[in-house]
Amino acid sequence: GKKSTVTITVVGASGDLAKKKIFPALFALYYEDCLPEHFTIFGYARSKMTDSELRNMVSKTLTCRIDKRENCSEKMEEFLKRCFYHSGQYDSQENFVELDKKLREHEAGRVSNRLFYLSIPPNIFVDAVRCASVSASAASGWTRIIVEKPFGRDSESSAALTKSLKQYLTEDQIFRIDHYLGKELVENLSVLRFSNLIFEPLWSRQYIRNVQLIFSEDFGTEGRGGYFDHYGIIRDIMQNHLLQIVALFAMETPVSLDAEDIRNEKVKVLRSMRTLRIDDVVIGQYKSHTKGNVSYPGYTDDKTVPKDSLTPTFAAAALFINNARWDGVPFLMKAGKALHNRRAEIRVQFRHVPGNLYNRSIGTDLDMATNEFVIRVQPDEAIYLKINNKVPGLGMRLDRSHLNLLYKARYLKEIPDAYERLLLDAIEGERRLFIRSDELDAAWSIFTPVLKEIEEKKIVPEYYPYGSRGPVGAHYLAARYDVKWGDLG
Ligand code: BG6
Repeated sequence: GKKSTVTITVVGASGDLAKKKIFPALFALYYEDCLPEHFTIFGYARSKMTDSELRNMVSKTLTCRIDKRENCSEKMEEFLKRCFYHSGQYDSQENFVELDKKLREHEAGRVSNRLFYLSIPPNIFVDAVRCASVSASAASGWTRIIVEKPFGRDSESSAALTKSLKQYLTEDQIFRIDHYLGKELVENLSVLRFSNLIFEPLWSRQYIRNVQLIFSEDFGTEGRGGYFDHYGIIRDIMQNHLLQIVALFAMETPVSLDAEDIRNEKVKVLRSMRTLRIDDVVIGQYKSHTKGNVSYPGYTDDKTVPKDSLTPTFAAAALFINNARWDGVPFLMKAGKALHNRRAEIRVQFRHVPGNLYNRSIGTDLDMATNEFVIRVQPDEAIYLKINNKVPGLGMRLDRSHLNLLYKARYLKEIPDAYERLLLDAIEGERRLFIRSDELDAAWSIFTPVLKEIEEKKIVPEYYPYGSRGPVGAHYLAARYDVKWGDLG
């Protein structure tokens, strides 16, 4: 209401994520009139900066995403006027108390709601929470803190982190972000499943042969090697982004759309997952590759990465859910950096049609003839179903065709960035798309033993050239479960 105010403090304001994602998302929300009437944005970081220097920095990454034809510089000016800066150490109570004073001036006696976005490196995380929670909880309204992964590196460190967070905050105040949950097509998964008649009856081991989660990027870890080397692709992408998609994909129907009902179902399905075994994992690392006159660096060519690093930049894994719905159905994941394309998708391969009358018209490759349902999360968002269709004409020959929902053909409006959705939800107190601590525990339990084994045994990754399709081991893994990766044709 009019009498209340929201301040959003971006802790780690000069970092990459803040510049590339958080400030632009806040601007987009402002542009779309989604922010409350009285809002103020504070950047907090160590470097000395004036308000106008912050504005200048932020303005460089703001774009008119929403309507490219319209000149939104006026809106940008208005927005930037609401942005301020406070310089301080992340582990200084005193500095956060000073921030609190400034926040109070802006709140001007209104009911104060405070959102803190902690976009800072893991080693200073707990200290920052301790200090920030002082000024956060000085709010007369609500206090919420958004935190970014990494949430530890394994079950133990994650539990320790949760424990220390809970010294200063209640679970209710903690918003753990997994930005894949804010992606349009991931959010749409539940709509597809639960508001259409035709999917849910097929959504089980009875009709689904395997499910594939594929993530690839056509660039390496350049510039982020220091962070990445400590975590690796399994922690960076699989244990969070891909696993979250599996949870939404495979969960039972929730009692309602309330955050707790949805998260209860997600936890159940995560807890039903078999602990990942080393035999069901393939790891890879990219090496340099020269194409024409261009030479692409290998992972260990990065100055911030040790020369002998065994950290995986690629992994493939086969996961299983031990419940009545999914017993025996492989959920295959594949994630990699420095591959030939950038893509994130979900592929559902259905079983054969029993006693198919058209086998002969299809030819010998029965695999080709099964239905495949694809949700392309990015880029070029799309949902399509591969079906068999008669080639028009006098003969009887079947052809693979697509029923295709291509977002940019169907919807004119641009798709919001994941961070816009998530920030808006945090401001509105909607927790549906944030990770609850028991979900996090369950997610770590699946991956922790295998991560330890890989590290303890110093398992050597399979090397693959920058820009390739990744290690061939991924095919053998899939073949063991009688699966072919759908993205490779
Ligand atoms: C982040 C990972 O969580 O997700 C990065 O740390 C990765 O390594 C990024 O590049 C991918 O996100 P998006 O939205 O660009 O697909």
